[in-house]
Amino acid sequence: MRILLCGGAGYIGAHAYVVLVERGHDVVVADNFSNSSPGVLARLRQITGRPVPFQPLDLRDRDAVTGFFAHQAFDAVVHFAALKSVGESCERPLDYFHNNIGGTLNLLHGMREAGVERLVFSSSATVYGDPDHVPVREDARLQVTNPYGRTKLVMEELIGDLCRSDAGFHAANLRYFNPVGAHASGLIGEDPTGIPNNLMPYICQVAVGRRDRLSVFGGDWPTVDGTGVRDYIHVMDLARAHADALDFLVRERRSLTVNVGTGQGVSVLQLVEAFAQAAARRIPYQVVARRPGDVAEVYADPSLAQRTLGWRAELGVEAMCRDAWRWQSQNPQGYPVA
Ligand code: NAD
Ligand code: WQD
Repeated sequence: MRILLCGGAGYIGAHAYVVLVERGHDVVVADNFSNSSPGVLARLRQITGRPVPFQPLDLRDRDAVTGFFAHQAFDAVVHFAALKSVGESCERPLDYFHNNIGGTLNLLHGMREAGVERLVFSSSATVYGDPDHVPVREDARLQVTNPYGRTKLVMEELIGDLCRSDAGFHAANLRYFNPVGAHASGLIGEDPTGIPNNLMPYICQVAVGRRDRLSVFGGDWPTVDGTGVRDYIHVMDLARAHADALDFLVRERRSLTVNVGTGQGVSVLQLVEAFAQAAARRIPYQVVARRPGDVAEVYADPSLAQRTLGWRAELGVEAMCRDAWRWQSQNPQGYPVA
């Protein structure tokens, strides 16, 4: 298939690019580099051994999006492009609505005009908010607690309406849990700008000496050791789910919303310990107050993905830490600045 990856220069998109090329697809990356580095393209070329087709594109620019689709033929789109910081979304909600929802509308419009009828969408476990029970199934109550989460929920709903209005248009909403890790080459990985919001990149930066110590947000949660429990999923397993979702859309000609997680809950301190083992170094930390908006425990019931996509996670916490550390230690400052 000829596939467009919107936001394909980002953390998850770059890993999905590698998997899709390995599966024999013809893949084009489009991005505005608002949260990524052009340096990723050279790394993708190094990994795949071939030039990386790239299109500069800002999804907020509707004319540019429709103009682009008018000159290209695609069998499917994988849509990663979004702003994703929960805290920033509370400070600048309109930017999130404009970029994430507005950008998605422009993309859907461009796809419709060009007759592209398959979409894989990056959704998030954030749509479950604070779940009533874990493991979380796809039919759990949806509830969002911040503007970023709201954009994901609204986008799922918009995409659902479009699918219902057009029997030929099919979408796979993949609800990612907590993506971590990196490609085994250590050439691509997560490279956040500024202070990392998320646990694994923060641990990586402590391990490599860029930050003194990790703050553990709360030691009094009702969990195994008092720290927050999440479902960390290796980014290469997650990348593979996109390829499997595209196969599903072709094979089954229907839409799907599915969790992408391992089904295993891991606490902050368990992850810190696993990382310390993998990197063979101490990770200094201090337990501080809970982070506003956090919840105790979120992990997936991933059985629908197994039944529908034939997908299941293969890589455990050890591989996640080993690969995250390989990327971080080989690239202490992230991608080289051009
Ligand atoms: P990322 O920021 O690394 O990648 C997103 C990419 O989209 C970036 O390259 C960015 O430059 C690009 N982009 C953003 N707005 C754009 C626009 N208007 N036009 C063109 N390109 C644009 O993030 P990621 O971690 O790779 O996440 C990918 C997707 O998965 C996002 O939609 C995110 O919300 C979702 N998601 C991420 C996580 C996570 O923890 N990383 C969890 C659940 C869901
Ligand atoms: C994990 C655990 C923290 C940082 C977020 C978004 C979610 C999704 C994934 C996009 C929690 C603790 C963290 C730190 C800590 N993104 N922590 N010290 O909050 O589960 O999910 O990213 O869709 O929408 O909300 O991930 O990595 O931020 O936190 O103790 O410096 O680590 O309290 O228990 P989270 P996270």
